[in-house]
Amino acid sequence: METVQTEKKKKILSCIQPSGIPTLGNYLGALKNWKTLADEFDGAFAVADLHAITVRQDPAKLRQQTSEVLALLLAIGLDPEKSVIFVQSHVPAHAQLAWVLNCYTQFGEMNRMTQFKDKSTSHADNVNVGLFSYPVLMAADILLYQADLVPVGADQKQHLEIARDIANRFNGIYGNTFTVPDPYIGKNGARVMSLQDPSKKMSKSDPNPKGFVSVFDTPEVIMKKFKSAVTDSEACVRFAEGKDGINNLMGIYSCCTGLTMDEIANQFEGKGYGDFKVEVANAVIEELRPVRERYNQIITDKAYLKEVAAKGADTASRIAGRTLNKTMKKVGFLMP
Ligand code: TRP
Repeated sequence: METVQTEKKKKILSCIQPSGIPTLGNYLGALKNWKTLADEFDGAFAVADLHAITVRQDPAKLRQQTSEVLALLLAIGLDPEKSVIFVQSHVPAHAQLAWVLNCYTQFGEMNRMTQFKDKSTSHADNVNVGLFSYPVLMAADILLYQADLVPVGADQKQHLEIARDIANRFNGIYGNTFTVPDPYIGKNGARVMSLQDPSKKMSKSDPNPKGFVSVFDTPEVIMKKFKSAVTDSEACVRFAEGKDGINNLMGIYSCCTGLTMDEIANQFEGKGYGDFKVEVANAVIEELRPVRERYNQIITDKAYLKEVAAKGADTASRIAGRTLNKTMKKVGFLMP
């Protein structure tokens, strides 16, 4: 008899906040890999608008950026036929489970979160309770989908750790309810630094726009920004300590071309930084070109975007609803 081996794909989930146009850093560090992950795993990807309001947002801008980021997810090649692509606030189960999990999370645990400490300094005028319990909402996102894996950068590691703790705690009290998620560490975890201050991570909230490249910057703007990138006075393209600016450019170039640091050093041996910067800019321009082109098409097709969001919300609600239901029963809520 013929036996067909159907191995169940692992589930992976990630979300991105619609708090501005993502940077080259967000793209190379995370988004670029999502497409690969979506091919390999059973993927769910969301625009985390509930998370975004933990800092004050302009309503019209938030709405627009939510559409833009949704369009970007499609532009990077995620396929709504293969993955669940949705807007977080369209699936009420996220807020519902977050409330329940709030009651299984200790104040002291949240109080240790370094991102909360950072953000309460940078948004000192609005240290709201949502900002404080933000990691619980993130845990709800993850646990609702019973995700096995979550791709996380360094800044979200602590939050994933808490999601695991909450899952283990709940499972310990009520029996197996949630899959305990593992971090997914990508192959080339590119950490892209500011082009103007390479000791800092590239950020879309950098007051100096020359410090970051947005994924929608035009080729001319990208070229200009790389030409004014900070380097050093050695005039030698090599990866070494104390050469943060060049190391960063080499990292970006490596991510776009697949070349190793040694290969890059060889390629630019005897050449000046001027030539190198132009080549890095060209590589970035070619990397982002198809994304920008697809994006420009998708963003004008409002009906398509709406359809994708509706389909995503439908599928996500079904998956999330199962977990929410199970949780509510275990806690002891009278079921409607
Ligand atoms: N907090 C994440 C960030 O700012 C976004 C996020 C929300 C997320 N929910 C998530 C990431 C669930 C992974 C899994 O980058």
